[in-house]
Amino acid sequence: MRVLVTGGAGFIGSHIVDQCIAAGHEVAIVDNLWEEGGGKTQNLNAQATFYRADVTDEATLSHIFDEVRPEIVSHQAAQHSVAISTKNPRLDARVNVLGLLNMLTNCTRTGTRKIVFASSGATYGTPAYLPINEDTPQRPESPYGITKMVAEHYLRYWQEANGLTYTALRYGNVFGPRQDPNGEAGVIAIFAKRFLNHDSVRIDWDGEQQKDYVYVEDVARANLLALDNGDNEIFCIGTGRGASVNELYRVLEKTTGYSPEIVRAPRRPGDIYLAYFDSSKAARVLGWKPRETLEEGIKNTVDYFRQ
Ligand SMILES: NC(=O)c1ccc[n+]([C@@H]2O[C@H](COP(=O)([O-])OP(=O)(O)OC[C@H]3O[C@@H](n4cnc5c(N)ncnc54)[C@H](O)[C@@H]3O)[C@@H](O)[C@H]2O)c1
Repeated sequence: MRVLVTGGAGFIGSHIVDQCIAAGHEVAIVDNLWEEGGGKTQNLNAQATFYRADVTDEATLSHIFDEVRPEIVSHQAAQHSVAISTKNPRLDARVNVLGLLNMLTNCTRTGTRKIVFASSGATYGTPAYLPINEDTPQRPESPYGITKMVAEHYLRYWQEANGLTYTALRYGNVFGPRQDPNGEAGVIAIFAKRFLNHDSVRIDWDGEQQKDYVYVEDVARANLLALDNGDNEIFCIGTGRGASVNELYRVLEKTTGYSPEIVRAPRRPGDIYLAYFDSSKAARVLGWKPRETLEEGIKNTVDYFRQ
């Protein structure tokens, strides 16, 4: 199939590109290598056609769709930072909402069959109950969480109004090789680099806050399964287990053989204390289950940053 992956130079998108190509699909990438994002030219798969373009650029996107005529769009490009969204909600809405509308319009215009969308656990805010599932009420606590939730409503509306099939995947905290270790989020990548450089690490709150860390290759595989399954459905993509920041520290200590100094800091605004997912719907409908354990995934991530 011809698949267009937006954000395909980024952390998650590049793994989706690699798995699509390994599965025999023809892949084109749209990415503007935004300086605040995780997109890098070294993440680009040489077998994919790369278009350096902004998803909000209507004229350029229109040309790309005419040329590629994608059967499937995997929309991963986004303003992906909660902190940036808080400081600059207009930028967040421009990329995450207007960028999506640009994709939807072109999908309909050129006859794309389906769009697979990267949604987020950030759409829930503080969850009403645990584990989080697809029916848990969404009360996002950041502009980023709001735009991801709005995007899901556009997908549903667009399917009803224009017949474009969609699948939305609400990812937990994704980690693994190629994650940007210089961002404000992505604690495992940040820690891995600092453990290897023998720098101190900052632990906010009491370090007992737990998130659902899901390995990037598992997330990419969920995206691949969604090319042919789960039409017009939304899925939570996580491991079902929460891991605390203190636990991450201990696993990294064991993996690297180093115990960095810990600098204590207060809770970060918008941080959630407990969040982990029930992904049984993804297991039932997509046939997806995470394969990598936290320990193995952290080992692979450390090996990547060692190189
Ligand atoms: N990393 C996570 O834990 C996580 C969790 C939930 C959801 N997500 C979502 O998954 C997707 C991928 O995130 P990631 O962690 O790989 O981040 P990333 O920054 O590594 O990848 C995003 C890519 O989008 C590109 N991009 C940004 N703005 C663009 C624009 N205007 N036009 C074209 N390209 C643009 C960036 O250059 C980058 O390559 C995003 O939609 C993000 O919101 C990520």
